[in-house]
Amino acid sequence: MSFIPQMEPWFGLEEKKAMAEYMDEGGWLTEFKRTAEFEKRITEFTGAKHCIAVNNGTISLTLMAMAVGIKAGDEVIVPNYTMIATPNSIKMFGAIPVFVDVEKETLCMDIECAKKAITSKTKAILFVNANGRNPKSGIEAFQKLCDEKGIMLLEDSAQSLGSRMPNGKHQGTFGLVGSFSFSAPKIITTGQGGAIITNDENIATKLRRLKDFGRSGGGNDIHDSIGFNFKFTEMQAVIGNEQMKKLEYRVKRKKEIYTLYKNLLSKNTNVHFFEQDLAYTTPWFIDVLAENREGLMAHLKENGIGSRVMYPPINNQEAYNVPGNHPISNLVGEKGLWLPSAAQLTDQQIEFICQTINEFYKNNVGSSNH
Ligand SMILES: Cc1ncc(COP(=O)(O)O)c(C=O)c1O
Repeated sequence: MSFIPQMEPWFGLEEKKAMAEYMDEGGWLTEFKRTAEFEKRITEFTGAKHCIAVNNGTISLTLMAMAVGIKAGDEVIVPNYTMIATPNSIKMFGAIPVFVDVEKETLCMDIECAKKAITSKTKAILFVNANGRNPKSGIEAFQKLCDEKGIMLLEDSAQSLGSRMPNGKHQGTFGLVGSFSFSAPKIITTGQGGAIITNDENIATKLRRLKDFGRSGGGNDIHDSIGFNFKFTEMQAVIGNEQMKKLEYRVKRKKEIYTLYKNLLSKNTNVHFFEQDLAYTTPWFIDVLAENREGLMAHLKENGIGSRVMYPPINNQEAYNVPGNHPISNLVGEKGLWLPSAAQLTDQQIEFICQTINEFYKNNVGSSNH
C-alpha cells in the first residue's frame, strides 16, 4: 500500500477540463463571472443572502471583523483551541484576542468561560465550529449572551462547509457574518481561498469595498473609502465551481469515513472520539485523543501512515504567551491527533489504519484509559 497522507486535496478530470476551457477563452484573471458563479453556489448551498469570496480564510476573518466595526484596542473572545489564524486575523489590525477554553465533548467554545471573559472592552465573540461541530450549549445560547451584553456574534466556520445546526441552518449563517476557508486541506479547495457569508446588505457592501481598494466597482479609480486588495481570482473560481459540484458527495463520504473509524476503533480504550452529530455535521478531520500519542505517530509513520498533532493551546504559543487556565485545550495539546481524513480514502485503507492503531496498543502496555 502506498503512503497514506493525513490529508490531501482531491482534483479530477473535471477541474483539468474546466481550467483548459477557461484558458482557451482568454478571459479575465481576476474576479469576474466565474467568481460570481462560485459565490452564488455558496449562497445556494448555505442559504445565506450574500457571499464575498476573498483570497484566504484568514483575511476573510480580518475583513469581516473590520466590516462589522471592530477596531484596534477592542477585545474579541476566541477559543484557545483553534487554528492560530482565528486570533491572528484580528491581531492584524490591533484588536485584542482574549482566549477562553473549549467544551470537552465538542472542542467548541465553552460558554461559561466566554461569560467570565467579557469586559467593557469586549466587542464580539468569534465562535469557531471546531471540526464542523455545534456547541453542546447550543449556538442560540451564544446569541442570547451576545444580545444581553450588547456584543456581536461572528462565526469562523473555516472547517465547516457541509455542516449544519440542529435546526437545519448552515453553520456560518447564525451570527452576523460567517467565514469559510478553501485552503488545500479543506473539504473543497481552491488552493488558497476564503469566503464571507452574511444576510446583511450593508456589511456585504462594506466587504466588497474592503477587498477591492475601497471602490464601488471594478475598473474605476474612484475611492470613497479605504480598502485593500484581497480579491479572489477567476482561476480559483474555475476550480472552486467544479469542487462545489462534488461537495454533497464528499459530505456523505466524510460521514461514512468517520463512522468506519469509530466502529473499527470502538474497542480501543486508548483512542477517544469527541461527540460528532453526523445527522447535521460533517467531520472535516478525524480528530481523537490518543494515549502515548508520539509513540503511535511513530508507529503509524513506520507503516506508511501520516498523522498530525492537533492545534496546541494558543495562549502557550510563543507568539502569544499569555497566562490562563485552559484544561481542555491543554489536554488536546497533549493528546490530540488527526488521523488520515481525505475524502478519497478507501474503506480498505481505513481498515489498514485502524488495524495498525489497534496493533500498536496491543503491543504497548502502560498507557492509561480515559
Ligand atoms: C478555524 C480556522 N480558521 C481560519 C483558518 C484559516 O484559513 P486559511 O488557511 O484559508 O487562511 C483555518 C484554516 O485551517 C481554520 O481551521
